[in-house]
Amino acid sequence: MLKIIQAIRGMNDLLPDVLFAWRHVEQVLRDIVESYGYREIRTPIVESTALFQRSIGEVTDIVEKEMYTFEDRNGDSLTLRPEGTAGCVRAGIEHGLFYNQVQRLWYQGPLFRHERPQKGRYRQFNQFGVEAFGMPGPDIDAEMILMTARMWQKLGLSEHVTLQLNSLGDRESRKEYHEKLVAYLSKHHDQLDEDSQRRLHTNPLRVLDSKNPDMQSLIQNAPKLLDEIDAESRAHFDRVRFLLDQAEVSYVINPCLVRGLDYYSRTVFEWSTDCLGAQSAICGGGRFDYLVEQLGGHVAPAIGFAIGLERLIALLEHFHLIPVSDLVPDIYFALVGVEAEDKGLLLAEHLRDALPSVKILMNASNGSLKSQLKKADKSGATLALILGANEIEQEVIAVKFLREEKDQVVVSMDELISFLEKEFVN
Ligand code: HAM
Repeated sequence: MLKIIQAIRGMNDLLPDVLFAWRHVEQVLRDIVESYGYREIRTPIVESTALFQRSIGEVTDIVEKEMYTFEDRNGDSLTLRPEGTAGCVRAGIEHGLFYNQVQRLWYQGPLFRHERPQKGRYRQFNQFGVEAFGMPGPDIDAEMILMTARMWQKLGLSEHVTLQLNSLGDRESRKEYHEKLVAYLSKHHDQLDEDSQRRLHTNPLRVLDSKNPDMQSLIQNAPKLLDEIDAESRAHFDRVRFLLDQAEVSYVINPCLVRGLDYYSRTVFEWSTDCLGAQSAICGGGRFDYLVEQLGGHVAPAIGFAIGLERLIALLEHFHLIPVSDLVPDIYFALVGVEAEDKGLLLAEHLRDALPSVKILMNASNGSLKSQLKKADKSGATLALILGANEIEQEVIAVKFLREEKDQVVVSMDELISFLEKEFVN
């Protein structure tokens, strides 16, 4: 027996049974962001490795441990994108989208991180994200958060998710804070795990993002960046809070929320749930006012977020909020005998031309009438059309009602379209 080749660990197939729900959710998200003026952008799945090193940060879990990096045939170092913001910024700079302009962009697609797979954490996963450029004020922060709140409301999840909010201040205020944090962490050096000891001097903020349970009380008691941020960032944050309060969106201030990527400044936020186990964040984002400049563009303030679609769908499943597929056929077309098979294919095409909204499932590769009608029943179709040698001779077609207690009828070919129109279109 040949060995069966399986999918890569942590990379999932999405089968037809679940894709109806995926498409529904994607459509809801798309409709909402487009109603706020966001336009789609698609960027490559593979980018230069340097792009992620420079944006996400060298001393982060993603860049240090999780990237799928390889040399291509030219010897260039390439990486499967582990997140969407960097590519979006790169494309915007390359195509002059940010210079003296406001941009609201959305994207969707697969991302790759070599994490340890578990429920809600995969090596290939999908995000739906947005990025807004050229707007420094707190109003866009608030609008973006309100937009996410609208998504949860539309999907029926408002009761099951909570919003955490923090501000990381600007670059300068963070430098001062770093010194305090390093002093505090150095005092507790023996309680730091290996990663944190290494990061203590290269990127101390990352220590606060550690998920190591043994370090949580140390992290909780660390000096808070929120207490140290500059006056302008504080005013910005207060205004975001005011706007959210006014819109009656509730949130929890979490001074320990630092996010796992280095490009953030000022507002950061995360929506999470306690219904999915350890992988509780379904959406995360924040401001990244320096990233465009850092990647070689002109200064352009920016903010964005991304939703983990696997987790969002899992949450909808958990609360039985997944819509049921309406992709059942209207008509099952049974064809009995060679002559019927020949004519049936064209007749089905003709019906599709005349009745484009009607879903027709044609029986292919023959079978007895009995077995075809069994398949018709299983398909969920409302009607079976039956074409055999007799029907062809008499220029009629037999119609069997699969969901009603009604006798089978015979309809002349000339009247078939108007008969079906009455059944399905009106
Ligand atoms: P992130 O927090 O790394 O942010 O990812 C956003 C969301 O993607 C998470 O909240 C989670 O739902 C989902 N996610 C992340 N990793 C995995 C995984 N291994 N398996 C399944 N789902 C996962 C970003 O990626 C930023 N680019 C968001 C952003 C956009 N910030 C500003 N603009």
